[in-house]
This record gives sequence, structure tokens and C-alpha cells, in this order.
Amino acid sequence: MRLALFGPPGAGKGTQAKRLARAHGLTHLSTGDLFRAAIRDQTPLGRQVEDLLQAGSLVPDDVTNDIVADRLAALGHGGFVLDGFPRTVAQAEWLLAYLAQADAPLDAVVSLQVPEEDLVQRLSRRRTDPETDAIYHLDFNPPPGDVPADRLVHRPDDQPDAIRHRLGVYHGETAPVEATLRAHTRYFEVDGTGSLDQVQERIEQAVATERGLTGI
Ligand code: AP5
Repeated sequence: MRLALFGPPGAGKGTQAKRLARAHGLTHLSTGDLFRAAIRDQTPLGRQVEDLLQAGSLVPDDVTNDIVADRLAALGHGGFVLDGFPRTVAQAEWLLAYLAQADAPLDAVVSLQVPEEDLVQRLSRRRTDPETDAIYHLDFNPPPGDVPADRLVHRPDDQPDAIRHRLGVYHGETAPVEATLRAHTRYFEVDGTGSLDQVQERIEQAVATERGLTGI
């Protein structure tokens, strides 16, 4: 199964990508996670993209596509779930051409639908655990009691100014990708509200039942 999760910041792409990867033996490929790891390790890439991530602006397409190409090539024919890519029309066109050339097209794209007021609430109360990569929400999905509070990270781009900027970038640069994906892939809109289990079940049903796909 080659799947891409699409949607605005805070829609639950990372949360669901991790769950789907674990449940179905897929590789989780998150461009945001790759950039954050590069920043943490202070690689040349990390230093190049640090200010962009902090502000909530997009990394240039050529830099992003190169990273994804490396990761996809390393996967061979293994299944994957893309999270946070593509998010410009140019990235989408590049990805579709790259996968067509590899004779390994996307099986489905799932767009998570969440009202904008919920997105802000989700992002401002998100915390991540750098040791386990777990994503929590202080109210909706709180960390277990044995996770020390001082280990949890409040992402710099989850501050109010950066959240507003990211939502603007989403509407300006990422939302238009929908038309490209609809035209060239099996594209499903899935309600991203409700419990984490409910959302996962909806994604699995949309992908597996509606199109008779197997493997997820
Ligand atoms: P990235 O890390 O991809 O951030 P994003 O797309 O803005 O998405 P988020 O991680 O904020 O949200 P999510 O949809 O994954 O939601 P999550 O599951 O965490 O990108 C960061 C930056 O990297 C970009 O700004 C850019 O600079 C750069 N970048 C990345 N990819 C790029 C690309 N392709 N091109 C150029 N630049 C790129 O959930 C959010 C919160 O909600 C959590 O607290 C979670 O616990 C909670 N939650 C999840 N599901 C539910 C639910 N059902 N009910 C209640 N709460 C829920």
C-alpha cells in the first residue's frame, strides 16, 4: 500500500500515519520529521531549513523533493504512508511523475477534514516526545503518567503567530494541491474529528472498502 495523508496543520496526519504504519507494516515518511531531525543534529540541511520551520514557512521544493527521492529510493518496493508531502502543486507533479516512472503509483490519498477552530486548539496544546516520537495533546490525548513532563516538547511552530502563518501558507500553497491529487489519484475525504480510533477506522474503511483495495 502506497498512501499519502493530506490536510492542514493539525489535521492529525502524523498521528494517523504512525498508527497506520504500525498496524499495517508501512514505512512512515514525514518530511516535517526529517527536517526536525536534521535541525536537531545540526546538519547542513538542518541549518538551511531551521528558520523556515520555526516561522512555519515551506522549505523550497527542490530541497524537499530531493529528500523524498532519497527516502523513496531506499524503500524499494516497500509500502509507505506519506505525511506532509506533497504540499505544493510542484511537489505533487514531481511525486506523481517520480512514482509513475518507478511503476509504483500511489494507491490512495486521504484528505483529513477538520474545522479550522479545532486545528488551532489541537496545535496550541500539542506536545511531542522526542524519545519515543509520540504525539500527544494535553487535553485530547494526554501523555501517560510515567512520561516526565520536562521531556515533552512544545514545537516552536506551535506558537500562536506561527500557527496563524502556517494556516495561511496552507490555504495559499497547499490547498490548491487538492485539484492535482483529485485528477490523478484515488482521493478520499475522511472526517478527521472524533477519537483517534474512529479516525483510523474511517481511513481504513475508505481505502479498503470503497475501492476494493487490499493490504490495509
Ligand atoms: P509538518 O511537521 O508536516 O507539520 P504540519 O503539516 O503543519 O502538520 P502538523 O505536524 O502540525 O500536524 P498533523 O496534521 O501531523 O497533526 P498531528 O497528528 O500532529 O511540517 C512542519 C514544517 O516542516 C512546515 O511548516 C515546513 O516548514 C516544513 N515542511 C514539511 N513538509 C514540507 C514540504 N512537503 N514542503 C515544504 N516544507 C515542508 O496532530 C495535531 C494535534 O492534534 C496533536 O496534539 C494530536 O494529539 C491532536 N490530535 C490528532 N488527532 C486528533 C483527534 N482525532 N482528536 C483530537 N486531537 C487530535
